[in-house]
Parts: sequence; C-alpha cells; structure tokens
Amino acid sequence: MKKVILDVDTGIDDALAISYAVHSPHLEVCGINTTFGNITVEEATRNTLQMLELLGATHIPVYQGSSRPIVRELTGKARLFHGENGLGNVVLPEPTATAQPESATQFLISTIKANPHQVTLITVGSMTNLARAIMAAPEIVTLIEQVVVMGGAVSVPGNRTPVAEANICADPEAAAFVFQSGIPLTMVGLDVTMQTLLTRDHLREWRALDTPLAHVFADMCQVYMDAYATVGNLRGCGLHDPLAVGVVIDPTFVKKVPMHVEVDTSGGASDARTIGDRRANPAKPANVQVCLEVDHERFVEHFLQHVLGH
Ligand code: BDR
Ligand code: CA
Repeated sequence: MKKVILDVDTGIDDALAISYAVHSPHLEVCGINTTFGNITVEEATRNTLQMLELLGATHIPVYQGSSRPIVRELTGKARLFHGENGLGNVVLPEPTATAQPESATQFLISTIKANPHQVTLITVGSMTNLARAIMAAPEIVTLIEQVVVMGGAVSVPGNRTPVAEANICADPEAAAFVFQSGIPLTMVGLDVTMQTLLTRDHLREWRALDTPLAHVFADMCQVYMDAYATVGNLRGCGLHDPLAVGVVIDPTFVKKVPMHVEVDTSGGASDARTIGDRRANPAKPANVQVCLEVDHERFVEHFLQHVLGH
C-alpha cells in the first residue's frame, strides 16, 4: 500500500477524489489536509469531515491548512462550478468529528520525516500548505517520495483565465515556489484531466444503483456538469482531482514528459500560467514530469469501479 496525504479544497471533484482514494486497496490515506480554493479553508474542512463521515472513514484525520495565499489577498470562491457550499448545494449532516489540533503544515512535515521516501502528497487545491511546509522544513524536498499536483496546463487553455488553471490561480506564488524547490513533481494538469470526463450517462448509472453515496455523487455532479455546460463543455465534467489519485494508484494511466515548468507570477495577462519548456536547456533542467497523454477510457472505467466502494 502506498502512503498518501491528500491536500484538498473540497469541492465536488475533490469529494470524488477522496472517495476514490479511501476505497482504493492500493492506498493508505494517512491524513487529509485542507486549503482554500473552491471555497474557504473552513468550508473545505467541514466538507472533508462530512465526506469522511458519509464514507464511514472517520479514522482518517483531517488537518486544517492555510486560509489565504502566501502573498496575495484571498480571491472569490468557485460558486458557479461547486455550488454555494462547495458540494453542489447537496446538504450533508453536520460532521460530528473535528479537525486535528495540529496544522496541515505540521502534519505534512512530521509524517514525511517519520516515513522517509514513503509518503506521496497529492495536492488538488492551492499549493499553499506544501509551499509553507518546504519553507519551514526544506529537508522534506529530499525525504518525500513524490508530489502529484492537480494543476496547471502546458498544452491546452486554462480554465480560470485563458491561460491559467484554477489551482495555480488560487496561489501563484506558492505554486511558483514549489515548482522551483527541487521537490519531485508530477503535474496532472488540464492537458489530461479535460480528457477524463464524467458524463450524464454515468450519472444515470449511479442513480440506478440507488445507494445513498451514489445519489449524493449524482446530485453533486449534476450541478458540476450543468456548470461545465455553461462554458461550452456539453459532454460532461472533468475528473480533475480523481485523475491525480488515479496516477498514484496506476502510473500507466498516463504518459509523462519531463520538462522545465515555470509559473508566471507577473500579475499580467499570463499570470498563473504554467509555462512548460521542452527544449534541451542545460541552464533550466527538467523539474516536473508533465502528464500529456492519458488512457482516458481505462482510467474512467477504473474510477467508476472503485469510487463508490463495494
Ligand atoms: C481544479 O480546480 C478546482 O475547481 C477543482 O476542484 C480542481 O482541483 C480544476 O482546475
Ligand atoms: Ca480541487
């Protein structure tokens, strides 16, 4: 079993990713860190605790993380896509559990140090917690197994701006810091996540199963899909965060290309863009394994088989 820590801004696809990870026989979810992005960090913590209760997985500890970007002001929430509460306005019971007293950053550092070369971090929200952890304990860069980042885009347009992806936009300075830190990174960006679509047929299949979890996910994803339709994606919604989990479960779902990636923090039209340079440039060696191809049929099938558990 691979030891993983999830770093989430729970969000609809984050909720799917949590369920997929919790139900995977190949992953041991050591803990879940929360951050801002789709919603505030407090809402992300609440939504994560609610999801874990729904999944019967309250043994997994939750650690609240950063409430705002490292340099900038907190920007708005992604209400159009994730609903007012972050979960497509699906109302779940208030959680009975609470977050741990330790911060997300402290948990990340102590877990990596206690398990050298064994911990994989999967970030699917702003990269602020990881940036803060590296600033506080730079040695984790060489002690972590790897970081899999859902974020960015090098070969396709952005989703928050014409060139920038939402998780990078949430805290561009944090992303830029992490990308140049030397930590081993795999980037699962829009290049591949926009090829892994959940469709309305899948929602019909979930509803036919008639289980509480299937109905919750179908209701949430209905909202997510309707939002995608408003921006021209009529076929379905991207399984962004689940694909980052999938790449850890089975790296053969994707093909990666090593390249030098920089994050634009200029504040201009290219702000928060992830710029991938595939040219051989000794001055700028590859710092990221960028996923550019995905076996989307095999991944979506695997996701559907496991996300609800059995
Ligand atoms: C990413 O942005 C968030 O809205 C989603 O949860 C996902 O992590 C996709 O760009
Ligand atoms: Ca997310």
